[in-house]
Amino acid sequence: MIKIKKRKVLLLPGDGIGPEVTREVRKIIEWFNKNKSLDFEIDEDLAGGASYDKHGTPITDEVFYKALESEVVILGAVGGPKWDNLEFSKKPERALLKLRKELKLFANLRPAICFKQLVDASSLKPEIVSGLDIMIVRELTGGIYFGEPRGIKPIDKGERKGINTHTYTTSEIVRVAKVAFDLAKKRANKVTSCEKSNVMEAGQLWKEEVQALHDKEYKDVELNHMLADNCAMQLLRNPKQFDVIVTDNLFGDMLSDQASMLTGSLGLLPSASLGAKNKNGEMRAMYEPIHGAAPDIAGKGIANPIATILSFAMALKYSLDLDKEAEGLEKAVQSVLDDGFRTKDILTKGMKEVSTTEMGDAIISKLK
Ligand code: IPM
Ligand code: MG
Repeated sequence: MIKIKKRKVLLLPGDGIGPEVTREVRKIIEWFNKNKSLDFEIDEDLAGGASYDKHGTPITDEVFYKALESEVVILGAVGGPKWDNLEFSKKPERALLKLRKELKLFANLRPAICFKQLVDASSLKPEIVSGLDIMIVRELTGGIYFGEPRGIKPIDKGERKGINTHTYTTSEIVRVAKVAFDLAKKRANKVTSCEKSNVMEAGQLWKEEVQALHDKEYKDVELNHMLADNCAMQLLRNPKQFDVIVTDNLFGDMLSDQASMLTGSLGLLPSASLGAKNKNGEMRAMYEPIHGAAPDIAGKGIANPIATILSFAMALKYSLDLDKEAEGLEKAVQSVLDDGFRTKDILTKGMKEVSTTEMGDAIISKLK
């Protein structure tokens, strides 16, 4: 059993804009080390396409073991058109999926918060999104992403068949639903559980198990069930009806992208992927921005580092029990937005356009 080293942070910048935005987080971690004597041990390595180019694999065993013994992994982004035609096992995304699966990071927390300074950046009317604060809890290590059998096989008459399998067990559903209920208790005390129980047995089981857990342990939390397609519609119609949404891996992938756009920009939203606590109370966790590698703007110095910086704030809160520091960092981000600083993705009239580095520096200048 590999021991998790306290305060060890592994940075995996990855591809596209990943390295640019991760660089800003590194500056912030170094600021905490210098000014708050926090003593983070920072390591950095390759993952995704960058690793494939150097080593012929999206993640080497060495890097994987580093991740296993780190308390916090921060991932920039992986993927890009350059690697699109690689066979499945070599694709940059496999690095991410392997880390999620092997570190057992079953609960993916994806907040969608509409910053008051950016209400006008949303494609929805201000009154629909202002004050929006949703937490999507996405199951991350099961469902159709990992189910067996899977593959592409030849069948008769020269045809082929693509196969993926969607499965969930009671314990997989219960552990992620617990995370959702526990989070709801600290928020508006409301959970919406989404599935397709009208067409899928795994969805029916999902619904039944979430309800059973609720009746047994979380009677004081309001629980609603919603079909996932209806949820997609309700997110656009009236998103503020939601507090915590809990759903499976695939629906969570789609609904979280949709929810994130309500807030104006993908460039602002962090995420946390949490595993179970071991006997010593230690938990593995990986933090990443919701946005992808954005190869079209990579290397131009215009990417928004806020999502990755807020991902580190989530690490401070969920992994390191440094709530005060997390809050300080979130406030610094708010304050820079108040000052009118904007990267290109969130630029509106009258605001001051800044580069990735300038945004990072401005946030650091607000830290106390
Ligand atoms: C996400 C991404 C990943 C996913 C990809 C890059 C494998 O879309 O984190 O939402 O599908 O889970
Ligand atoms: Mg996605």
